[in-house]
Amino acid sequence: MVQDPNRILIVDDDPEMRNVLRDILLDQSYHVETAQEGREALQRLANQPFSIVLTDLRMKGMDGLELLQEVAKNHQECNLIMMTAFGTVETAVEAMRKGAFDYLTKPIKTEELLVTVDKAMREALLRREVKYLRKQVYREFSFDQILGKSKPMREVFDLIRRVADSQTNILITGESGTGKELVAKAIHFNSQRQSAPFVPVNCAAIPEQLLESELFGHVRGAFTDAKSDKRGLFEEAQGGTLFLDEISELPMMLQAKLLRAVQEREIRRVGATRSSPIDVRIIAATNVKLEEEVKAKNFREDLYYRLNVIEIRLPALRERKEDIPLLVQGLLEKSIAGQQKSIHEVVEGALARLLDYQWPGNVRELENIIERAATLCPGEKITLEDLPPVIREVRGEGQLVEDAVDRMLPLEELEQTYIRRILEKMGGNKYQAAQVLGIDRKTLYRKLGEMEERSKV
Ligand SMILES: Nc1ncnc2c1ncn2[C@@H]1O[C@H](COP(=O)(O)OP(=O)(O)OP(=O)(O)O)[C@@H](O)[C@H]1O
Ligand SMILES: [Mg+2]
Repeated sequence: MVQDPNRILIVDDDPEMRNVLRDILLDQSYHVETAQEGREALQRLANQPFSIVLTDLRMKGMDGLELLQEVAKNHQECNLIMMTAFGTVETAVEAMRKGAFDYLTKPIKTEELLVTVDKAMREALLRREVKYLRKQVYREFSFDQILGKSKPMREVFDLIRRVADSQTNILITGESGTGKELVAKAIHFNSQRQSAPFVPVNCAAIPEQLLESELFGHVRGAFTDAKSDKRGLFEEAQGGTLFLDEISELPMMLQAKLLRAVQEREIRRVGATRSSPIDVRIIAATNVKLEEEVKAKNFREDLYYRLNVIEIRLPALRERKEDIPLLVQGLLEKSIAGQQKSIHEVVEGALARLLDYQWPGNVRELENIIERAATLCPGEKITLEDLPPVIREVRGEGQLVEDAVDRMLPLEELEQTYIRRILEKMGGNKYQAAQVLGIDRKTLYRKLGEMEERSKV
């Protein structure tokens, strides 16, 4: 059924008033329903969406202000228009502060009513459209909750789709915070195993002596504390996916045992004499270079090849900066979800800083910074002030210094690069460049001369 968006709910305890208003609005081809007081209105709202609630202020039962509070909290798609008797304008102002779209004073003039309703209707429809378009963008540039439109991310989505239904083991690599766990879940929930469990294990977080019984389970009496039989995580994941996070931290002894489980498709609980079959897909993840661990003999080569049938490499955020605006928008929507906030924008200056920054903590760091900004932001747009100093202070030039430090450039060379950049920025105007650099023109000419001399050698 196509939902008619032109829906108006009239709430008034005076039946005559309800009828008059309804007739006027029906005449304009709006779809109109009525309720006698706030509680009945809420019941209707719960059943079907309305674009406008036109409510009286004073009613027996739940009054207009209480209804407004509920609508502002749970039906943000609605614009509420408050009708007040002459002489209660203060209450009308209070209603506006609490989120009413507008107010009308009684006696209601038809013309005024129609203008206000029309305005509220347009605004509600526009809002709905924006919301719809936002959703479309995410549908186009995301895979489950993973956002990205850059080439490397589109390749990742493509790979997830192709491997999801196969049985192969997968190794996900990438720096911390690049979304490895998110990808592991996407694979699981897009595979035929989706209704069986996804069991994550962080190999670095469980003490070595416990890890074996955690993974494989144990039988009663296997060791002092083993008071009863216990299923391991492999068995918990039966039919589903076991996500072995930080696999490089798996102790050698357990690497051997894991290799056997993967090869033989069976496991043996600690202290058990017999093995039992398992059907578990393994997705492993690491943020260190596992090949190097293999070379250094810290990781078994045979296990490495077993786990790494297919590798999904997640790019660092700084390698795909074109994803930053989309991520900022998506993470912002996520962080205000369920809150009374309408921050949907980041001012350009702030976005520029976010684009300049190098993101050592990748998407997780960006997520934290956006969440912090949304919490601190007093207005509707995130500005520079809402960003932490570490971001606020990065500039293109800051990057220049960072790069110089990385390459350990001599001071002179850095100076030359800086001069060249400022000159470029000033469109070659030496006078302005000298001013920006805080040196006089003669000095600038001299330095440029020296640079030219040096480039000849
Ligand atoms: N492409 C993305 N789109 C949206 N959110 C993302 C994306 N990548 C990561 N995130 C979010 O960033 C956070 C970190 O992601 P995740 O835990 O998957 O990273 P990780 O690679 O496993 O990190 P670590 O190596 O530190 O465990 C999560 O909250 C996740 O939702
Ligand atoms: Mg992780």
